[in-house]
Amino acid sequence: MAETLHIPQTDNRQAIYDSLIPQIEALISGESDLVANLANVAAALREAFGFFWVGFYLAKENQLVLGPFQGPIACTRIAFNKGVCGAAYTRRETILVPDVEAFPGHIACSSASKSEVVVPVFNPAGNVILVLDVDSDRLNDFSEVDVQGLEAVGRLIGKEL
Ligand code: SME
Repeated sequence: MAETLHIPQTDNRQAIYDSLIPQIEALISGESDLVANLANVAAALREAFGFFWVGFYLAKENQLVLGPFQGPIACTRIAFNKGVCGAAYTRRETILVPDVEAFPGHIACSSASKSEVVVPVFNPAGNVILVLDVDSDRLNDFSEVDVQGLEAVGRLIGKEL
């Protein structure tokens, strides 16, 4: 396993995802411990993009429970029918929210969070096991490039489940 990430020094997120995704694959393949892998993926995404908050919520006990993350402390439990995380889990699809104030039921873990993307992660049987949540302190900070890149990261995690 590599000990350092190589991140291109550019503002071009597509170029960063292109470089990062194979490195994430190398980082988590061959490691069977889910918490270890989620912790490293959260750290890799934060280091590469400087996101305000990046982390995981795991489906357990009939709700979403906070998992490994990077950033400020966050809400620990989210009902399946609450927030952007709950919506992504229930709809089984990625949700991009350009302005969290405009999303009905958004959970404000931090008032600094302004836009976000939440990606459901499927196990090989097709069940959503967890979600990847990325938050920005800037409005409208995410695009289809992030959706595609973060979904690719989600697929790498899902393969190991
Ligand atoms: N934004 C999420 C809540 C989790 S945090 O932002 C870390 C939501 O509305 O689902």
